[in-house]
Amino acid sequence: MFKRKFKTKLSNTILALSFLFGALLATSQHAPAQTVPATLEVQVQKPIAKVSPTLYGLMTEEINHSYDGGLYAELIRNRALMDESWNPAYWTLVQNKAIGASLQLEKQVGPSAALTRSLKLVVERASPTDKAGIENEGFWGIPLRARTRYESSFWAKAADASMGPATVSLVNDETGKVLASAVAQPLTTEWKQYKVQLRTGDIAASAKNHFVLSVERPGTVWFSLISLFPPTFKNRANGNRVDIMEMLAAMKPKFLRFPGGNYLEGDHIVERYDWKKTIGALVDRPTHPSPWGYHSSDGMGLLEFLQWCEDLNMEPVVGVYAGYSMKQEHVNPGPDLEPYVQDALDEIEYITGGTDTKWGSLRARDGHPRPFVLTYVEIGNEDVFDESGSYDGRFAQFYDAIKKNHPQLQIIGSMSSKSRTPDVIDDHYYRNQEEFYTDTHHYDQTDRSGPKIFAGEWATIEGTPTPNFGAALSDAAWMTGLERNSDIVVMASYAPLLVNVSPGAMQWRPNLIGYDALSSYGSPSYYAQVMFSNHLGTEVVETKLQGAGPRFFDSVTRDASKGVLYVKLVNASAEAQALELKLAGAAHVRNRAVLVSLRAKTKDATNTIANPKNIVPVTTTIEGMGANLRHTVPPYSIQILEVSLN
Ligand code: AHR
Repeated sequence: MFKRKFKTKLSNTILALSFLFGALLATSQHAPAQTVPATLEVQVQKPIAKVSPTLYGLMTEEINHSYDGGLYAELIRNRALMDESWNPAYWTLVQNKAIGASLQLEKQVGPSAALTRSLKLVVERASPTDKAGIENEGFWGIPLRARTRYESSFWAKAADASMGPATVSLVNDETGKVLASAVAQPLTTEWKQYKVQLRTGDIAASAKNHFVLSVERPGTVWFSLISLFPPTFKNRANGNRVDIMEMLAAMKPKFLRFPGGNYLEGDHIVERYDWKKTIGALVDRPTHPSPWGYHSSDGMGLLEFLQWCEDLNMEPVVGVYAGYSMKQEHVNPGPDLEPYVQDALDEIEYITGGTDTKWGSLRARDGHPRPFVLTYVEIGNEDVFDESGSYDGRFAQFYDAIKKNHPQLQIIGSMSSKSRTPDVIDDHYYRNQEEFYTDTHHYDQTDRSGPKIFAGEWATIEGTPTPNFGAALSDAAWMTGLERNSDIVVMASYAPLLVNVSPGAMQWRPNLIGYDALSSYGSPSYYAQVMFSNHLGTEVVETKLQGAGPRFFDSVTRDASKGVLYVKLVNASAEAQALELKLAGAAHVRNRAVLVSLRAKTKDATNTIANPKNIVPVTTTIEGMGANLRHTVPPYSIQILEVSLN
């Protein structure tokens, strides 16, 4: 389901140029190169702009099961029973002939004021060998691995104190074999949380399992907030999936834009990302419907976003709800908007305030006394779609209040504004390949005295569920333009970041990283991001490219402190591109250079969950590097040459 149109600019006419084929040079392979090499002259000693140290980061929101059924490691689906999809969604009764029991969703019996629902299990017949219980299918299965510890918890109350204990089991779907189980403390007649640990033995890794919570005596019991966690990244309680976090870490992201995207706005004002309902104990988080067609557990709450930043050494870029939701609901600027402005100020205090402040002390209560560093706050998301035209007034009210209380903060506008000048403007681009190729000079002429630019969402829209190699090529071409202009483009983030590739999990395509319950993979575009981010440099140097084909792009940066030059080359054509690389002004060039290459035979080639490493970067060395190098850039390739200048 595509919720939104893709925003595009007009594509230019495709340039029709023909080329002569010639002999293959130095490192070229397969396709013939042009006879007359292009020249790329690099003025090594002439930096022309600073590279933004925060250029590459992440944009994230709850879409495509990014958190629930994705990064957030919880394995139980609809753990708090607040999902309205059906009754009771993702939970069923354990049944066999020896068991007599019934199951019902109770909408007014729950463990807290926030969680008002539970599963009522009425047991007439059960025994230690035939336990009555409830089972959960997880997010497209429950992934289990060998010799691994799982943490489970649930809230329960029994009608009678003689009910005995509940047992948690992890069961194979096909064999019915119990792969791990643990018995909790006996149930009582008051709502109480129970915790157990389970350990698997020598099993084969698989997601074809389900979760069972059961009792062995007749009686009535209510269960709610039922949870199961595998080991998490850095062993955080309520933490994130290890494999996806490791993939994100490899991108060396400098910031995290959260919580959206449309997820910030919600379809309706009442369904916005209301951060105050996402902090504290899970039992006090009411959960909420997301605009992407499924219910959010809010396990990924404000503090969890911030800890995610901490774990990957990223700065938070916080989007505050600004009074517009997508079904054309808005809050009028003035007194009506004041509570929302106050929410934003409170949110900033929760993130940055000392423990002597109201909201800073709540952060300490939640386990994080140390304030987080915050530089950027974004007011809303894509307010250009607010047909009432109210953003100007809303933006001014947020801007004034935030600047008054936190003058050091940089304010990002989700669009331009007449009455106040945002420090930064968030530009979004969802385009096809041609549109990116023909616009790689987009920011070359941007007024350097105006607001800085945050390319907060962008992607080449080709490939599903994740981009194909053609998309990676135009992504990389576009990134050369971002990088060359990163004195003004201070941050950029591909979107969407994550997709669960299981049937029915996706709402938007393409997405950078794909996964199912058990494994994950990077798309070719992911690897392009990894390459660019890992070879950023600190200054753009002057270059002149002559004689190259129309689908050839470059960006050259240096890091003087390391004595390194990064030459990024993108050849998006079907022909090899012969190149004379001239490093003017280099006093010394080390003989050996490092070459990182990402390439594919066709633009349709891609990575999938079944073939995750079809296209990955390959690192080689070039011997005989000097101030002049003849090099052939293969067809359909993204290359980074790392040249040592000392
Ligand atoms: O990235 C998907 C959606 O695209 C985002 O939620 C929204 O900001 C944009 O329209």
